[in-house]
Amino acid sequence: MAWLRRTETLVLLLVVLLASASTSAAAAAAGEEEERVIRLKHSDGGYSYNHTLAHILVEYASAVYTSDLTSLFSWTCPRCKGHTKGFEVIEIIVDVENCLQAFVGVAPDPRSIIIAFRGTQQHSVSNWIEDLFWKQLDVTYPGMPDAMVHHGFYSAYYNTTLRYEILKSIKWARKTYGNLPINVVGHSMGGALASFCALDLSVKFGSQEVELMTFGQPRIGNPAFAVYFGEQVPRTIRVTHQNDIVPHLPPYYYYLGEWTYHHFAREVWLHESIDGNVVTRNETVCDDSGEDPTCSRSVYGMSVADHLEYYDVTLHADSRGTCQFVIGAANQVYNYVREVDGSIILSRYPQEPQALESM
Ligand SMILES: *[C@@H]1O[C@H](CO)[C@@H](O)[C@H](O)[C@H]1NC(C)=O
Ligand SMILES: *[C@@H]1O[C@H](CO)[C@@H](O)[C@H](O)[C@H]1NC(C)=O
Ligand SMILES: *[C@@H]1O[C@H](CO)[C@@H](O)[C@H](O)[C@H]1NC(C)=O
Repeated sequence: MAWLRRTETLVLLLVVLLASASTSAAAAAAGEEEERVIRLKHSDGGYSYNHTLAHILVEYASAVYTSDLTSLFSWTCPRCKGHTKGFEVIEIIVDVENCLQAFVGVAPDPRSIIIAFRGTQQHSVSNWIEDLFWKQLDVTYPGMPDAMVHHGFYSAYYNTTLRYEILKSIKWARKTYGNLPINVVGHSMGGALASFCALDLSVKFGSQEVELMTFGQPRIGNPAFAVYFGEQVPRTIRVTHQNDIVPHLPPYYYYLGEWTYHHFAREVWLHESIDGNVVTRNETVCDDSGEDPTCSRSVYGMSVADHLEYYDVTLHADSRGTCQFVIGAANQVYNYVREVDGSIILSRYPQEPQALESM
């Protein structure tokens, strides 16, 4: 059985390589052609997909990959431009041991607190994707006996410095800037972390205060978890792109009942079709099932290239190699630098020593 799985993986990875090669060729051809954008609009109990907002938020999901923490903190990094101008970072958390990175800050548009999570950098992207096949539903979500999630995704948010520091930053930001709403974003593994964070914050601050937008995230829980998630975080958009392989993982097996992974709603599927000289870019707002068969599930998701770019924005590390980060020695843009349990924390406010019992 183990041998069979291995073979399937190898075949699949081969297909992935072929698929990403052909996608790049198609993209190159598409560059010369005329472009047309068609958007399908749906409404979701007062919350609907906002194309403009997606274009803004994807830039935060890209910027959080920056390894030069000084330029990230001062918002002068190459990816800290465009729609995100005027963003003020409050805190950057780098969990060196677990290779995680996130920031919290305040944005002018949308006027809100934005929390962004970086995707994995620990191994190569294709190693990480291969690992995704074998993730087990091995933890019960607290307080939800039927809701199962994967231990690794869950504890990456709950059992690291990230959660404690993020809650503290939100508390400080709301005291300093007023009760701003919260946007949580993330790409890939960062989308999984963002989802757990948004769920946590929705329960804590109220579901109308929190919006979640993820790009190319994997599945993180079973059908019961997806239902619970939808109730708690109704302001959720899960963007998928063309043949991106990651939203297809870990696999969904409808006949396994509660013992399969299942996406939560609402998916927005970006896909391009080429007809003669015209490239049509569709942004399809999918149904509220989480597993709309007419969206990304309608294609074989085999592309890594489609995983690394959303809305023409690059979503991967800015440096090759594993888990790097750089802090400029002489620069004092961040007021406070700390090291806590193997994490580097840069923040605008001093560490508050008292425990946050109310959290
Ligand atoms: C969509 O988001 C943009 C950017 O935040 C905002 O200016 C605009 O008002 C939003 N549109 C709707 C219909 O909410
Ligand atoms: C949380 O992390 C600690 C220390 O790394 C570990 O001993 C513990 O088993 C983890 N708990 C969960 C639920 O992952
Ligand atoms: C894109 O959208 C248009 C208009 O809704 C539709 O006719 C076309 O079939 C769509 N293309 C694809 C590839 O789904």
